[in-house]
Amino acid sequence: MQIRFDDKIVAVTAAGSGFGRAIAKALAALGARVHACDISPDGIAETAKSGGIEPAVVDLTDRDAAAHWIHNIEASTGRAIDILINNAGGTLGNTMSPIESVSDTQWDSIFAINVNATFVCCRAAAAKMKQARAGRIINISSTAALHPSQTGIQAYSSTKHAVLGLTRQLSKEFGSYGITVNTIAPGRIPNTPAKFAAWERGGEAKQQTTLERISLGRLGTSEDVAKAAIFFASDLSGFISGQVLAIDGGEW
Ligand SMILES: NC(=O)c1ccc[n+]([C@@H]2O[C@H](COP(=O)([O-])OP(=O)(O)OC[C@H]3O[C@@H](n4cnc5c(N)ncnc54)[C@H](O)[C@@H]3O)[C@@H](O)[C@H]2O)c1
Repeated sequence: MQIRFDDKIVAVTAAGSGFGRAIAKALAALGARVHACDISPDGIAETAKSGGIEPAVVDLTDRDAAAHWIHNIEASTGRAIDILINNAGGTLGNTMSPIESVSDTQWDSIFAINVNATFVCCRAAAAKMKQARAGRIINISSTAALHPSQTGIQAYSSTKHAVLGLTRQLSKEFGSYGITVNTIAPGRIPNTPAKFAAWERGGEAKQQTTLERISLGRLGTSEDVAKAAIFFASDLSGFISGQVLAIDGGEW
């Protein structure tokens, strides 16, 4: 079976780096008309260089701007979005600190990008997707939604559980419209030069311990995550909804 997305309208959030970039490029290479946004003008311009990707600079924590981006895609294509990929999120550079010293700002800022942006993009795309009676929503959560996060960041783990909860709830709401809603849960993947440098700084002993916990004995890549996105976006997953797929090489 050959997987193609010719003429499919795809929206990918935070595609100026990492998984978002890999997903946008993979779907564009398979024929999709990809719309991709990021807060970083340079990042999203770099992603768009490979072709088939319409870039936009959007701060997804600005609810109006995020909804406007979705509605612009619908207006410019004259169609519903076929495949919405809510990838935006992260730890925002925070590190673990005991909960008694977690500030409201730290907590709220992680929720703003990890949960609120996903909610706003789903809400903005919903009406037209339901009218079209077809579609795919793929939310990127994390294995931090399945067990305590290795980052130790309480807000990060909480937001990724929330993304999983939203996914399950929306799968119920969207199911009768023929729309599937699933989530991908990557393990820790050093998918940018900065993250890889941090991994290397951790030293050989720590690296060894981490790799021993991964059944496949290697680190994951952005392309591993993009393959899962292709699966959930394709007809292969047509009877799968409300599910979470860990992309962690079998980590225990
Ligand atoms: N890398 C990992 O190890 C890992 C593991 C599990 C889950 N995840 C999740 O995968 C998703 C992508 O992570 P990644 O590691 O590829 O990220 P990344 O750090 O490589 O890229 C994040 C992108 O988000 C953009 N961004 C940040 N704030 C934004 C905003 N307000 N509006 C728009 N764009 C904004 C950045 O400019 C950047 O391009 C996130 O939801 C993250 O939580 C990552």
